[in-house]
Amino acid sequence: MEVYLDNNNVTRIDPLVFEEMIPYLKDRAYGHPAALHGPGAAALEAVEESRAKLASLIGARGEEVVFTSGGTEANNLAVIGAALASRSRGRHVIVSSIEHQSVLFSAEKLSSLGFEVDYAPVDKEGFVKLDELERLLRRDTILVSVNFVNDEIGTIEPVRELVELVRDKSPEAIVHTDAVEAFIKVDVDVRKLDVDLATLSSHKIHGPRGAGALYIREGTSIEPIMYGPVATSKLRPGLENVPAIVGFAKAAEIGVRGMEEFTRHMRALRDKLMDGILDGIEHTVLNGPRELRSPSNLNVSFLYAEGEAIMMMLSQHGVYVSSGSACASRLLEPSHVLKAIGRSHAEMHGSISFSVSRFNTMEEIEYVLEVLPRVIKRLREMSAWKPR
Ligand SMILES: Cc1ncc(COP(=O)(O)O)c(C=O)c1O
Repeated sequence: MEVYLDNNNVTRIDPLVFEEMIPYLKDRAYGHPAALHGPGAAALEAVEESRAKLASLIGARGEEVVFTSGGTEANNLAVIGAALASRSRGRHVIVSSIEHQSVLFSAEKLSSLGFEVDYAPVDKEGFVKLDELERLLRRDTILVSVNFVNDEIGTIEPVRELVELVRDKSPEAIVHTDAVEAFIKVDVDVRKLDVDLATLSSHKIHGPRGAGALYIREGTSIEPIMYGPVATSKLRPGLENVPAIVGFAKAAEIGVRGMEEFTRHMRALRDKLMDGILDGIEHTVLNGPRELRSPSNLNVSFLYAEGEAIMMMLSQHGVYVSSGSACASRLLEPSHVLKAIGRSHAEMHGSISFSVSRFNTMEEIEYVLEVLPRVIKRLREMSAWKPR
């Protein structure tokens, strides 16, 4: 049996999404959206229809959505573009300490350009500490970026509450949320959240890779970070990836419409796995909260075992998970998120991220619960680092 539980890293494409894309990969809308001829007009129509569809699913208007190549590009555009556009008003930026690297590295770039960056600390479950954020907020703060759902430990941040605090203490600041892991798992309504910028990514929601989006509230100043010929958006020059954009909008439509049913299914699978591991395998620690947690996410530290060894041995049994940070697992560095929530060295190194999707089944979870205890037992027997 093969069980794919690495959905926080990338999801498999929904067959209905693939079907929707096929005409755009073959003979439909193959023109450049900026061209005035028939195939160009068809491409423009496909992009604009997708933009309107995606916007309506997050409570925005079409003009407020810019398509990008993915979440990384949208986060770069949000953080660097917003800071550059606001530099005459201030140079102070705050990002949470558990942001995705595309936000953290963009913030580092801002530091090198002379901006002052503060990192808002989180508590032991990954929630941004409101009192600490309040202390960091200043009159000259121009940008605050906090992820909606953390990709490693699943914490759902109280974004609306954070925005209220920012508006109160730093009324000039632009608020960005990276909603990549939140989308189709929790309600992402940009008006209700009251954010100025929000990032989405297609391949996290059973859409194709190569498409993402940034919501930009009307009136929010932002500078492009790429330059070239403009087709549909001044903020994102270059030829649009039409088939991927069409697939992204379709995936969003399916995911948002079916969210209640899909999240119920994911939560049932995740809870079964969580209870089976925490009750059935000793020396295990849950990372992130039990409540206010993404329904797809489970992150557990297995003490006295190495995350990479667990991942590889599970892979030999056809079970695919990720160790540490999904995006940084090849770097073999301890996760900055686990560090930020205060996990010990042993806890960080034995961490495994299991992420379910609507395509997983209960039989698959039962198979994992059969294989995993044996894998952990075997690795602990081999390890010099044994439980006392
Ligand atoms: C929270 C979060 N933000 C941004 C990204 C980057 O998105 P993409 O892979 O589409 O560039 C990821 C991907 O892992 C993510 O989990």
